[in-house]
Amino acid sequence: MTNLKTIVNPTTQSRLKEVDFESLPFGKIFSDHMFVIDYADGKWQQGYIMPYGDMPLSPATSALHYGQAIFEGMKCNRDIKSGDVLVFRPEQNALRFNISAARMGMPSIPVDIYLQGLYDLISTDRDWIPTREGYALYMRPFMFATDPMIGVRPSDTYRFMIITCPVGPYYAQPLKVLVADKYVRAFPGGTGSSKAAGNYAASMYPTVLAKKAGYDQVLWTDGMTHEYLEEIGTMNVFFVINNKAYTPSLDGTILNGITRDSIIQLLRHKGVEVIEKHINIHEIFEAHQNGTLQEAFGAGTAATITNISAIGYKDQHIELPPITNKLLSAELKANMNAIKCGAESDIFNWLVRI
Ligand code: COI
Repeated sequence: MTNLKTIVNPTTQSRLKEVDFESLPFGKIFSDHMFVIDYADGKWQQGYIMPYGDMPLSPATSALHYGQAIFEGMKCNRDIKSGDVLVFRPEQNALRFNISAARMGMPSIPVDIYLQGLYDLISTDRDWIPTREGYALYMRPFMFATDPMIGVRPSDTYRFMIITCPVGPYYAQPLKVLVADKYVRAFPGGTGSSKAAGNYAASMYPTVLAKKAGYDQVLWTDGMTHEYLEEIGTMNVFFVINNKAYTPSLDGTILNGITRDSIIQLLRHKGVEVIEKHINIHEIFEAHQNGTLQEAFGAGTAATITNISAIGYKDQHIELPPITNKLLSAELKANMNAIKCGAESDIFNWLVRI
């Protein structure tokens, strides 16, 4: 049995006072501590919380060569009334983490170890949780193969860690997205629905090309026809057409986003019809042409809800209707922010209070 009691070695030099909580870039400032637990001899060992910092690794560390590495993204906020910490749907992330682990031939981590490590880390660094609206403490659980060997086989040893950072919005502006017509993020039978580090590695070069072409992100398509929309580099995608919401159905190549699922629940609760289907890019351009495309937005933990202002595909380019606070996406963003900090009631039971 793994000992669930985390050993805490606190820092003697907090960096908290150096941080400007009014202006937080995404993912560059890390809180004082990190959670670490190793997998060896077929079982999870003792979990530790220790000062955030560099760690020695063998140059032969298997993950560095063959990419057996997965991660999650999660957020927590302070309850604006009680000051309690509210963690957004942590169990869903733990379950998804293990789905990714299985696909990558890695050991699963018991949900109770994952959550205990997470809650202990949050409690240790609770003063790092920003209170400004739209800000949060972002939590990054990840696992990587640690065998010091360069033979190609699943590692026998792994390290699971959680680091956290106080963050502002991931995207400061609405995004212009370029529909992929050459490169592919995922293929049926591949790792597209896992949060595998390699999925993101494969997206870097096409994203650089999209930026050179004047866009911010790639809107990925299926690998066979390049016509069916999948997801944007860091988030799932939604379209509002004729007052109905559309999002690509999950069929193995798309990440099963927890924000995606939350948005679907919220929309249905509001009485908005949500259609999960294969969406052809030509349907989107047609809806734009006949005036029924009202808005498009991305949804993800880091990105929360990010509007799309323009879409490019081959030689076509459309500008979406102006982004105002009357859009459904603005209402959803307000609802999500309010639920996450306890200003609106948690009718879907998404929050864990610690
Ligand atoms: C998240 O939204 O938490 C993600 O993991 C996306 C990330 C690549 C920024």
